[in-house]
Parts: sequence; structure tokens; C-alpha cells
Amino acid sequence: MKTISSIIAGCACILSLSMCKQGVATTADYNVVPRPALIVENGSLSPFTLSTKSIIGYPEDNAELKKQAELLADYIFDQTGIRIGVAPAAGDIRLTSDLDAENPEAYVMTVGADGILINGASAAGTFYGVQTLRNSIPAVDADQVVLPAAEIRDEPRFAYRGAHLDVCRHFFPMDSVKKFVDLMAMHKLNNFHFHITEDQGWRWEVKSHPELTTIGAHRDGTVIGRNTSEYDSIPVDGFYTQDELRDLVQYAADRQINIIPEIDLPGHMQAALAAYPNLGCTGGPYEVWKRWGISKDVLCAGNDSTYEFLKDVFAELVDIFPSEIIHIGGDECPKDRWKECPKCQAKAKALGLRTDASGTREAKLQNHVMTYVSDFLHEKGRRVIGWDEILDADFDENAIIMSWRGEEGGIAGATRGHDVVMTPNQYLYFDYYQTTDKDNEPLAIGGYVPLEKVYNYEPVPAVLTDEQQKHIIGVQANLWTEYIPTFEQAQYMELPRMAALSEIQWTDGKSKDYEDFKMRLMPMMQRYDRLGYRYSTRAFDDADQQSAPAE
Ligand code: ACM
Ligand code: ZN
Repeated sequence: MKTISSIIAGCACILSLSMCKQGVATTADYNVVPRPALIVENGSLSPFTLSTKSIIGYPEDNAELKKQAELLADYIFDQTGIRIGVAPAAGDIRLTSDLDAENPEAYVMTVGADGILINGASAAGTFYGVQTLRNSIPAVDADQVVLPAAEIRDEPRFAYRGAHLDVCRHFFPMDSVKKFVDLMAMHKLNNFHFHITEDQGWRWEVKSHPELTTIGAHRDGTVIGRNTSEYDSIPVDGFYTQDELRDLVQYAADRQINIIPEIDLPGHMQAALAAYPNLGCTGGPYEVWKRWGISKDVLCAGNDSTYEFLKDVFAELVDIFPSEIIHIGGDECPKDRWKECPKCQAKAKALGLRTDASGTREAKLQNHVMTYVSDFLHEKGRRVIGWDEILDADFDENAIIMSWRGEEGGIAGATRGHDVVMTPNQYLYFDYYQTTDKDNEPLAIGGYVPLEKVYNYEPVPAVLTDEQQKHIIGVQANLWTEYIPTFEQAQYMELPRMAALSEIQWTDGKSKDYEDFKMRLMPMMQRYDRLGYRYSTRAFDDADQQSAPAE
């Protein structure tokens, strides 16, 4: 396997390091990932030289920008070994957030001999300027960084820039989750879709239902390979306490990232049923599932205690997560049990549900359960998002559709007036292979999503009218972890595809140039190396790319 050093050595973009009186100097390059909207460099003006003498200044009494100044100082130290100070008001690098711009996430970064000013239209805008600055600085040991005089004007294309992580099929400790958030920040993503309940494990503390974690967070073993008949006996355990989650919410907020928790319902609930068998149609017993796929055992829609359970769980959820948007799942809910369950059938009858052109009786029963949760969340001032199956019946028109079974759900959703987040599996499922050389990769779920395919994805379908296109509010990639037992492997599957994702989310998409992207990716990969992230270099492997089948 190639390392980034060998790739860089073989390419024209060798990072410039030179000796000066004060030691080793490196030069910043503003051609970062994601590509800024406008970079105007002025070679006739003197550059700014950053060294241990530099100070990052922030407005007094502005806690958010103070935090950003501290983060920036840490980024610079981690990347170069140069430790610089932070102070209120003054500073060679100044952070402010009073830019007059329509887009609240816009920023302007101005570099001159006297220093650097990063001015955002909000604290979020400033933060993205901070990321541009840290990504401009080569990740190499240095005593000084020379930053050419320039003005950068930048803003994102999409307001919703998401990444999803499944911590249920395999569990990742909180420090790994925070590293995932750090990666999101580096790539200017702003919505972390945190998938915390599943058939194979319930991963967060619910005080009113302690057995969700005493029972539901533990599985005795896991099926070997792709759903063979053999199992290992390695326990998979773990959940996050409410205190840990509150701390994570703050950690993410400091990095301008909103956390959208997902409670997947009414399917994908077998771990909850193992803990509370009365919530299922048959009454169990159930086990925390050791296999992959779609379990037929789902929440019973005819049982009053199901609705009580959902109310209790979501009440605690919204107390922990301030996100306006809450994910309520809705995908892959087989109706086999409901068709045979007297309670479900009685409920459907009492509600007068019938199969007709607008949906099947059971789809409408699912809609009833989801609407119950959605109404509850509205009362709490929240808005729901769900997988595209929620379009199988006439669901809350305020709900956001997450289009995962290709783009069709997103197109249908936008046509019906829903806001949409595009996350089609054939472009943005990062649990899929990133090479055709599957024998030399860690076992994955299947599929083929190479870096170039991610980069070239256009999230706004041309079939939509201009009005409908406005409903595409963002883009997200998903990482399901059936075949990803370690956080190291999670990084390998994410990187560098998250970089291509960030280009789709941030840039206007009008002048795509994959070769240019790959050049800009090199210093990013050097940053991954320096910060200890694992990543794939498959996209730089000519043989691999030549053997890639045409789309
Ligand atoms: C999904 O991938 N089941 C949303
Ligand atoms: Zn039932």
C-alpha cells in the first residue's frame, strides 16, 4: 500500500520547506478541501509569517470565539509543533463575527503582512474560516509558516452538511465519537446523524427504562462473515450515559456541529424488545440480535405500552439533544407480525385504516405510530426527519425526507413539498467498498463507491423544477457498521471519501475537476497522517482505477 509520503514524492505538489534565520519555514496553500469560493492572492504584497510569537485574538466576552481561538492554537500546534498564544481583543490572527452577508455561514479571510483577519457572518462562519486557515497550513514540523497575502471569500452551497455514524452494530467509545466529530469539523460538516438504537444494540441511557441498557446494550456474540450460520462468542457491549451525551453535545457545538440523534422505529427495535418483550407483537422472548439484516420483530403498533414507551424515550432524548431536527427512522419495517397480531389488527380497525391507492393498511398503521412521535416532538418544538419509507403513507408535510434508496425518495419528497437530504446509497454509503480489489480490503457489506464517484455526485436532480430544487436542503454520507468492528476501520472507510463529500456539500458544483481535487487532497492526507487518522489511498492506485467498471 502506498503511503502519502510516497504519493507526494511522486507528484508535483511537493510542500515547500526552507531554512530561514529562525529555523524551518513552511508555506501555506489556500487551495484546500473543500475548495473556497474565491481566493485572490496578491504576490506583490508581503506575506504574514506565523511563529511562536504570534497571538490569536478574539473579542472580549465572546466565549464562542474564545473557544475557536483555543481550538485554532491547538490545530496549529498539532500540525506543526508551533505553539501560539490566545488573548482577548488584540492579536496577529483576529477572529470576529460581524461580516455583513446573506449566508450566515459565510466568512472572509484576509491575510497581509500585519496579520490575518477571519470575519464570519456568524460564529459558524468564523469557524469555517478557522478550518480554512488550519487546512492551508502544511502538516509538517516547522518553526514558521509563511502565509501569502490573500483574500478568501467563501460560503457553503448547502445549509445541511451531514455525516452519519452507526454505533449500534459495533460500539465505539466516546473518545472515538469525538474524533469523528473532529473529522467532521475539519471538513466543514455541520450535522452529525448519530444512529444510537438498533436490533443489535441500544446505545444510550434511558433513566425511565433502565433495561434498555442493562439488557439491550449487550450482545453475546456476532454472526461470522456475511450472515453465515456460525457465530463468534465475543461480547459486544456499550452505551453512552446521559452525562456523556450532554458533554458530546457541547463538544460538537463548540465545533459548530449539531447532533441529530436517531431512534429508529417502529422496525430495527429488537434490542429494545429483548429488554421489554411486552413491546413486541408476540411477547417474545427476544434476544439482542446477533445477525445482520431486517428483523421481522418490530414494535407492536396495537399495544398502548408501545406509545407510553415512545413518549418516555423521546422525552428524555429531547432533554439531552437540543437539535431542532430529530430522526425517527421509519426504514425497513416488515409488517409480517402486524398482519398476524390481534392487537395490531384491532388498532388498524379502530383507526379505520384500509388499503387503497394512498397506501396499504399496514403502511398506514406505521404512519400512525410515526405520527404519534412526530406530534409529540412538534409539541416540544422539534421537527422530524425520517428515511424515505415515510413517504409510503401521507406523512407530516413538515417532515424532512432522507433519501437513501437512491434518489427516488428525494425526488418524490421534493415533489410533494418536503425538504430533503440526499444520501443515496449508490453514491454516499461509505460502508460500501471503495475499490474493485475487494480481496485486499477489509470485508465490507458490498457495493462499490469509489472516491471519484462520490466527488462527481450532483445532489440536486435535474428532473425537479426550480421551486422543487429548493427543497434539497443538503447532503449526507452514511456509515453502517455491521462489517466495521473498530474505529480504525471506520476511519479507513470514511477517509478520504469524507473529503469528496465535503466538496459536494460546500462548493457550488459548477466546475468539478477531479484531478484538481486529488491535488488538493494530498495535503489533507498528510494532515490525516500527522493527526493519526487511518485512510485509504486506493484512489491513487492506478491499477485499481483502471480496473474499475464503468458506471
Ligand atoms: C438504511 O440504510 N436502512 C436507511
Ligand atoms: Zn402487534
